[in-house]
Amino acid sequence: MTRRSFNIFTPILLSGIFIIGLLLILPSSCKTEEAISSPAISKVIPAKIDFNFHVKPILSDRCFVCHGPDANTREAGLRFDIKEGAFAALGDAKDHYAIISKDSKNSTLVQRIFTENEEDVMPPTESNLTLTNYEREVLKKWIEQGAEWKEHWSFLPIKNSKIPKVENGKINNCLLYTSPSPRDRG
Ligand code: HEC
Repeated sequence: MTRRSFNIFTPILLSGIFIIGLLLILPSSCKTEEAISSPAISKVIPAKIDFNFHVKPILSDRCFVCHGPDANTREAGLRFDIKEGAFAALGDAKDHYAIISKDSKNSTLVQRIFTENEEDVMPPTESNLTLTNYEREVLKKWIEQGAEWKEHWSFLPIKNSKIPKVENGKINNCLLYTSPSPRDRG
């Protein structure tokens, strides 16, 4: 008797679990979609944008083909691989700039990556290259934070390299510590 009633309820129980499972999974998968286009995205954007780690990879991957080191494929005389190129005055009238430090509104780079005009958008539609919302926001925020251009990290001087203090002729550093000579021990 107990066994029989168990058999009747098992399918009901299982489908109940299945439906609850669906209800739990569906809304959470919808949320991820939403996060991509909602302001929630700003949460994952780094607080301080670093040129070498956040900006340069985007530029070299999505812009260099047409605005990089290769003069043969360079478009609009604009290049983002060197500082002088990225901050240069543009156009025949030399009246606008791709990057204006702390002025993302007037930076044509920002205008061209955010525009909804298909003819103006960068990278161009026909290139099949695109930027994600995250990448657009990173570029914009970098400009807003002052567009600090850094040389490649491997050319930067090494920071925080403290030279061990020398006291009484001995190097006062655990790793470099030399045990007292028999004379010092007295
Ligand atoms: C497939 C080639 C191609 C790629 C990739 C590309 N661009 Fe361009 N870009 C062009 C061309 C062609 C022009 C000139 C025509 C125009 O202004 O639309 C241009 C113009 C521009 C201008 C305006 C220059 C001016 O004189 O006003 C900016 C700013 C710009 N690109 C930024 C970018 C950025 C940022 C990226 C990467 C996210 C990028 N482009 C990727 C082809 C490209």
